[in-house]
Amino acid sequence: MPISPVLERQATYPFVRLNEAARQRLERGLEVIDFGTGDPREATDPRIRQALVDGLRERMGYPLAQGLPELRTAIAAWAERRFGARLDPDADIVPTLGSKEAIFTFAHVVVDLERGKDTVAFTEPGYPVYERGALFAHARPLALPLREGNGFLPDLDAVDAAEWRRLAVLWVNYPNNPTAATAPLSFYERLAGLAREHGFVLASDEAYTELWFDAPPASALELDDLTNVAVFNTLSKRSSMTGYRSGFVAGDAALVAALKAFRPTVGTAPQEFVQRASVAAWGDEEHVEQTRARYGRKRALFLDLFARKGVRVAGSAATMYLWLEVPGGETSEGFAQRLLEHGVLVAPGSYLGASGEGYARLALVPAEDECARAAEILEDVL
Ligand SMILES: Cc1ncc(COP(=O)(O)O)c(C=O)c1O
Repeated sequence: MPISPVLERQATYPFVRLNEAARQRLERGLEVIDFGTGDPREATDPRIRQALVDGLRERMGYPLAQGLPELRTAIAAWAERRFGARLDPDADIVPTLGSKEAIFTFAHVVVDLERGKDTVAFTEPGYPVYERGALFAHARPLALPLREGNGFLPDLDAVDAAEWRRLAVLWVNYPNNPTAATAPLSFYERLAGLAREHGFVLASDEAYTELWFDAPPASALELDDLTNVAVFNTLSKRSSMTGYRSGFVAGDAALVAALKAFRPTVGTAPQEFVQRASVAAWGDEEHVEQTRARYGRKRALFLDLFARKGVRVAGSAATMYLWLEVPGGETSEGFAQRLLEHGVLVAPGSYLGASGEGYARLALVPAEDECARAAEILEDVL
């Protein structure tokens, strides 16, 4: 039976080993407090859930790729309040089923092998979907390492002119998963300039812009000129709505038009009842403030613990993650295995990319009482 060789070549998802060890512990009746994956375990605001229920009709037809006008208007209004962006709801925004599918398929929309625009660049360690989308579109992946010495920003001076010319798209993700670093507006300004100069798309994955602690992070939506720029955002983290699958792409109207042409073929228009719930979610900041406060309390608990234990936190400015330096020269995987033996599951940095070796990622997703219990355990283990 024919199976895509790209699929067959995919490395086994690295978390499988750790998850298996966690499963075995649970089977033996032992506890596992899971800081491994970034799936918020908070309740979704009741008003959002009610809007979903109210949106259910006797007959639901096919949703349109451009989405409901109410949703596009709600997204444009949010982007203006939050970033001062002036988006035309009809031309500059398209809703997505969360951002994962839109990120994965984006290479299909922009890669042009015939014209030599064959390369998809992304940063590592990072979210694996940029690279996987590139491979399935038969594009050439180019990983740009994130190093602490450069504030976990890619070294743009290390990319030579020939590479810039081959780029179809460059993915950046700030606030960053997994390093928790943020990027200044000047970073987006420089990249958008390079995108226009060399004819590629700057794709900014901004899934975590709303999970911040001291100061709200910048967005590429703050740029004066969005030519060659596409911004991806989602309700998954901001509104703890991973199961709803709701996000958007906004930016250059020509790219949005291309997405509206592409997406009906894939069938990725969000269900209308989800769109109605999303209108409620983008229109409310109170639940987001509560979410930030909750992550803030968990973060403070662990920052205090790690400071006392001499574990250096290399990144914690935003996102739901803490990026820890693995203490004592242990490998990332060895450190994660050791913590799991005591019931605390974290992600080894090396699982998220080669440059993640020497670090571990802690997703602050367990409930506050579980976080307190994990802190007690780590008090003894570290
Ligand atoms: C960096 C990053 N981008 C995008 C996503 C996708 O989120 P969703 O598809 O739920 O919107 C995630 C999810 O973990 C992520 O970490």
